[in-house]
Amino acid sequence: MRIAFIADVHEDYNHHHDFVKCFSEFCEDNKIDILIFAGDTSTGAVKTLYFYRQLQKSCRAKVMQIPGNHELYCELKKNLAGERIQTMEESQHYFERLMQDETSLAAHPIETKNWIILGECGWYDFSFDPSYPNLDYQKLSKKKVSLIRWPDRKFIDGNIVDEKLDVARTQESLDRLEKLLAAAKKTNKKIMVVTHMLPTPQCIKKWRLPYFNTAANYLGSSRFLELFKKYDVEMNICAHSHMRMSKEIEGIRIVNVSLGYNYQWKHILDAKAEIAETCYILED
Ligand SMILES: [Fe+2]
Ligand SMILES: [Fe+2]
Repeated sequence: MRIAFIADVHEDYNHHHDFVKCFSEFCEDNKIDILIFAGDTSTGAVKTLYFYRQLQKSCRAKVMQIPGNHELYCELKKNLAGERIQTMEESQHYFERLMQDETSLAAHPIETKNWIILGECGWYDFSFDPSYPNLDYQKLSKKKVSLIRWPDRKFIDGNIVDEKLDVARTQESLDRLEKLLAAAKKTNKKIMVVTHMLPTPQCIKKWRLPYFNTAANYLGSSRFLELFKKYDVEMNICAHSHMRMSKEIEGIRIVNVSLGYNYQWKHILDAKAEIAETCYILED
């Protein structure tokens, strides 16, 4: 069986390319049986699911997925008085829809001859911050990155700035994953976990940009690496940071398969070549 992994396709931002055609041809050329998207395929769950349904019509591979943060984005709504209405409930609804969908890797782990492959979105809890766990969340909530720069605040949490919501979301994600890991351990197969978020700050390339260190907090949680170690996970496919890498960290092979925004690509005019370069293929 040949399984391909990719993420951060952002097909609505990268609108110069026909991704249905590109992925169908890529899977045909490489004899891919299952194609797994690790989140941020489009903005909002409806667009993302529509893309998967369209792709499935012409793609030889079975399309599977886990949600990223962009799948949870909802349009900011205003009531008659012009006040913003919370979008948090809507985001949660779409998250659950993706997690329970027939394409969900979280609901349908894959078993090959030697591997069991699990999926979970993951989240961030500011454990990438050097001063973690002694954090002042109120102070963090007032930082510019949190208030202005980080769009999750607006489009997932209904413009509510409260970093503790993310801490709770991370805990829920860890709890779901631990249940899957406990069951996977019993199969005696090698365990691979697909997450949208990063499991350790060791996956981050350090860039000297304004607010970069604060923004790095929003890329994942170190508690995922701890959980991977507890259950002897051999491999993690991750994304979200748009920083492709493949590294062995504390005995775990971690591969970032972010396709990223068009301007970040090497082959700006050739999506198929960029996909081929980004995908990780497991043959088993
Ligand atoms: Fe992304
Ligand atoms: Fe993301």
